[in-house]
Amino acid sequence: MITVKQIPPELTYDIRHIVLRAGLPRESCFWETDRDAFHLGGWLGVRQVGVATFQPEADPDAPDRPAYRLRGMAVLPDAQGQGVGALMLLSGEDRVRRLGVFQLWCDARIGAAAFYRRYGWEAYGGVYTIPTAGEHYRMKKTLGKTAVCG
Ligand SMILES: CC(C)(COP(=O)(O)OP(=O)(O)OC[C@H]1O[C@@H](n2cnc3c(N)ncnc32)[C@H](O)[C@@H]1OP(=O)(O)O)[C@@H](O)C(=O)NCCC(=O)NCCS
Repeated sequence: MITVKQIPPELTYDIRHIVLRAGLPRESCFWETDRDAFHLGGWLGVRQVGVATFQPEADPDAPDRPAYRLRGMAVLPDAQGQGVGALMLLSGEDRVRRLGVFQLWCDARIGAAAFYRRYGWEAYGGVYTIPTAGEHYRMKKTLGKTAVCG
């Protein structure tokens, strides 16, 4: 069974490190913005296999509009493709909506762009490279007023 719940930043570091920062120091997974963010963990049964972070940060293209930025979305390789990422994404969207914010954006790895598109995110601009994490698209989503999941 998949469950998603809010977690402290400390419970994001290991999965971020394995999935998103392999070969880099573990400290590269500690982000200053973590203290202002909310973090979700995804479980398959009793095992935590996923993390996602939503931090309040305006979209650089719309600096005056409240927005959340999605960062650090990761599911352990052997647990991918079982619905954990989707449930974390939709749960996070619902939490942002309940906070009264309707704009979301992220820097999406190009390999994950199709995942985000499935859930209504759109890519803007061209491909650009983040030195620690490869090629990305800027992606955005405007949330509707109605929750998708609880
Ligand atoms: C991208 C990621 C978070 C998705 O999580 P996941 O648990 O594997 O995804 P889910 O099982 O919930 O997938 C939901 C749907 O999206 C599809 N999907 C998942 N990853 C996909 C991808 N990279 N490209 C296209 N479709 C994808 C699944 O097939 C599934 O489709 P279905 O509903 O028809 O079965 C995960 O694969 C991951 O951690 N990848 C490596 C790190 C990464 O790229 N993170 C994103 C950084 S921006």
